[in-house]
Amino acid sequence: MYVDNDPLVLAHARALLTGNREGACSYVDADVRDTSTILKQAAQTLDLTKPVAVLLLAVLHLIPDADSPAAIVARLADGLAPPSYVAISHMTADFAPEPKNFPHTSFRQRTANSCGCGAHKVSRGI
Ligand SMILES: C[S@@+](CC[C@H](N)C(=O)[O-])C[C@H]1O[C@@H](n2cnc3c(N)ncnc32)[C@H](O)[C@@H]1O
Repeated sequence: MYVDNDPLVLAHARALLTGNREGACSYVDADVRDTSTILKQAAQTLDLTKPVAVLLLAVLHLIPDADSPAAIVARLADGLAPPSYVAISHMTADFAPEPKNFPHTSFRQRTANSCGCGAHKVSRGI
């Protein structure tokens, strides 16, 4: 289950993210801030009464502070059965100290704690 709100990305999703006999695969056309739509539509493909993993990869740094990315994480996590997992990856300035600002996007730097939402951290591993 993939979530995005960019029409071009969704065109690829329509072509590629189709299920078959081996397994279900789908996408949700939604803004990541619209967590109720995401959870509702995801439940049409996934059994959310069972644990799942939510991957918020390279997306939360696009969400302005005013839209409370930590609350987005919390709302998504609230809709999951324990012991589900949420993985977050975020742009870092470690290797590019100057903030990267593109014409239509400004990447936001945050600490891990600001998106922690009280979840228990797990150690790295495979
Ligand atoms: C750097 S890509 C990461 C895509 C994917 N998570 C991955 O790891 O391959 C960021 C994606 O976030 C999507 N995106 C940006 N803002 C969004 C929003 N408010 N809601 C949903 N998707 C968004 C963009 O369209 C883009 O496809």
